Amino acid sequence: MESFESELSCAHSLPWVAVSADGRVIGFIICRRVEDGGEVLKLAVSPSMRRRGIGGKLLRHAMGELKKLGVVRVSLEVRESNAAAIGLYERFGFKRLAARKEYYRNPVENAAVMFADL
Ligand SMILES: CC(C)(COP(=O)(O)OP(=O)(O)OC[C@H]1O[C@@H](n2cnc3c(N)ncnc32)[C@H](O)[C@@H]1OP(=O)(O)O)[C@@H](O)C(=O)NCCC(=O)NCCS
Repeated sequence: MESFESELSCAHSLPWVAVSADGRVIGFIICRRVEDGGEVLKLAVSPSMRRRGIGGKLLRHAMGELKKLGVVRVSLEVRESNAAAIGLYERFGFKRLAARKEYYRNPVENAAVMFADL
């Protein structure tokens, strides 16, 4: 929660939400831009709404907006075991180019570092 709040309040933070027809927030993405580099900081879809294309729509929208802002390359970190997110990112052209050893806590796990050119 603390990291969520600090990411949202960061001056460079670019958040978008997905809203259902009846007005509920069902997903969100938080990115940031530093000069011509973009980063996906958080992406999540409500468990009951997954696998319906919402994560993909959020990511497509965010990447389009980052491109309009002059971003040429987007990076992100993801748990190596997170097959759903890695599958989604690969569909959007992200490639695993590096790893950060024991980057996550609870449980300890490596991060895959992924990049996509816009
Ligand atoms: C990752 C996440 C955002 C995906 O959202 P989503 O709305 O379910 O994704 P989409 O429906 O747009 O899926 C698009 C593609 O991603 C891949 N994908 C999504 N979920 C997957 C799964 N469980 N297993 C394998 N591939 C998956 C597939 O290629 C899928 O296309 P398909 O359904 O035509 O096969 C969602 O699972 C989530 O909120 N997970 C928990 C939070 C999280 O891990 N966030 C990422 C942290 S970096």
